[in-house]
Amino acid sequence: MTESSVACVILAAGKGTRMKSDLPKVLHPLAGRPMIGHVLDAVAKLAPERVVVVVGPGMEAVTTAVAPVSTVIQAQPLGTADAVRAAAPALAGFTGDVLVLYGDTPLVTTETLNRMIAARRAAPNPAVVVLGMRLVDAGAYGRLICAADGSLERIVEYLDANADERAETLCNAGLMAFDGRRLFELLDRIDNANKKGEYYLTDVISIARNRGYACSVVPAPEDEVLGVNARSELAVAERLMQKRLRQTAMANGATLIDPDSVFLSVDTRLGRDVTIGPSVVFGLGVTIGDRVEIRAFSHLEQAQVADGAVIGPFARLRPGTRVAPNAHIGNFVEVKNADIGAGAKVNHLTYIGDAVIGAKANIGAGTITCNYDGFAKHQTEIGAGAFIGSNASLVAPVKIGDGAIVGAGSVVTVDVDPDALAVARGRQKSYPGWAARFRSHKR
Ligand code: UD1
Ligand code: CA
Repeated sequence: MTESSVACVILAAGKGTRMKSDLPKVLHPLAGRPMIGHVLDAVAKLAPERVVVVVGPGMEAVTTAVAPVSTVIQAQPLGTADAVRAAAPALAGFTGDVLVLYGDTPLVTTETLNRMIAARRAAPNPAVVVLGMRLVDAGAYGRLICAADGSLERIVEYLDANADERAETLCNAGLMAFDGRRLFELLDRIDNANKKGEYYLTDVISIARNRGYACSVVPAPEDEVLGVNARSELAVAERLMQKRLRQTAMANGATLIDPDSVFLSVDTRLGRDVTIGPSVVFGLGVTIGDRVEIRAFSHLEQAQVADGAVIGPFARLRPGTRVAPNAHIGNFVEVKNADIGAGAKVNHLTYIGDAVIGAKANIGAGTITCNYDGFAKHQTEIGAGAFIGSNASLVAPVKIGDGAIVGAGSVVTVDVDPDALAVARGRQKSYPGWAARFRSHKR
């Protein structure tokens, strides 16, 4: 261990009652990733020596989600101080700085964590550094009570605060940095004589001060320290996260015509000179190449779109879609588990599922790959330069050769040779004068 070692304890054992959910609170997603995943991400960039997540009994889903990061179980949710104490075995022998974070405070950045660590190590060598925030409406956050010299004296929880204390606008964001050599000495002195009957981590401050240790506050921007306790706060956190992702996308060279209506995932990758129209949604796992245009109201997930392609408006790219350079996917087209070749066009009202489409193929309006027989999925292959007439049903498994043409309205059940014409529909018959006779008869 070096003097600059950091260990991180992430608290996630709370019941999350206010979410009214079967899903543990910290697994609710923001921009497609569980809240706690965002915290782990911010922490990983500190290259900490140890990381441990404190979960409650029966929270195997959290243990699975955070793996390979290890978890310890807090037997009962007796409060935030008790939760940190549950991490004691994981911190045995550790004497560096211990950062305590909350799984429900997902917007904090590595930069802010670094500022806390720097303050912990600087004069006056505080035993505890608390992340603070000034709020116009401080709601139910704990209040930070400081001395005249600005040093931190104590934290009072909202429920236990008197009117004067509630008027304080400097609040506890929940995150703390401890001198690891003092942490358990302080925790062991915390009791549960308060309104909630819980062991409050916040009580460490007055205990540290009584023992003559310094405590200080590091201020944080409000948009990093939102604690998510209810769905309404989850929505606020999502909005803040989206704002960040949009700013990053634009900073990296994408044009978002109406940024506020574009929804991104944490892992959305956009090339240069990408243009994204209004109301486009990116689910997880989307990679977009350079000079791609994604037009309004398109929805993409687990899809790769190569350079120069045009998608939408109103296109849906489902998992396993790979669009090669300069291909066009137009309005009301759904694509799933399919390769769309370079320069191919699938422009109108079409379903392409479990298919490979060759370069420069043209797929007419209303084409459907009939990929499912009620039991299994089957593959459709369409060769390079093939032309599929409008309203064709391609009943998979089926192959259309390179350069072949399929007549409009065909139901294709047999492979079509390269450069052949396949027409599979009733032959047209015309009856001269029939319509006029029909009308006069009806009259
Ligand atoms: C806590 C702080 C409050 C601060 C606020 C910031 C305390 C006593 N209060 O209040 O000062 O303003 O966060 O968001 O610390 N947890 C456990 N085990 C428990 C209890 C909680 O692991 O026994 C975890 C929760 O899962 C959560 C975090 O600790 O991730 C905070 O707990 P929560 O109950 O949400 O605390 P707040 O009431 O929000
Ligand atoms: Ca909380």
